[in-house]
Amino acid sequence: MIHIQQHKTVPHLPQRTLLESIEDQKIVVQFHCREGFCGACRTKLRSGEVEYTSFPLAYIDDDEILPCCCYPLSDIEIELA
Ligand code: FES
Repeated sequence: MIHIQQHKTVPHLPQRTLLESIEDQKIVVQFHCREGFCGACRTKLRSGEVEYTSFPLAYIDDDEILPCCCYPLSDIEIELA
């Protein structure tokens, strides 16, 4: 499950990136490249683990993830901007 602070809990769907799973629930998320280059989707990860489809090139802090190119490995809690 994906817990989104100040929003709701949504399911993570197999074969869908974190960004796609959130969008499926009609929650607006910032994005641009959708490939880990621009950093527009940068999101705080409060708990849990994610795995990247490929190494992300955009700069992120230690507590941030790029939802456009990762999948949850566990239940996670994120904070959308
Ligand atoms: S949309 Fe560009 S890094 Fe995620």
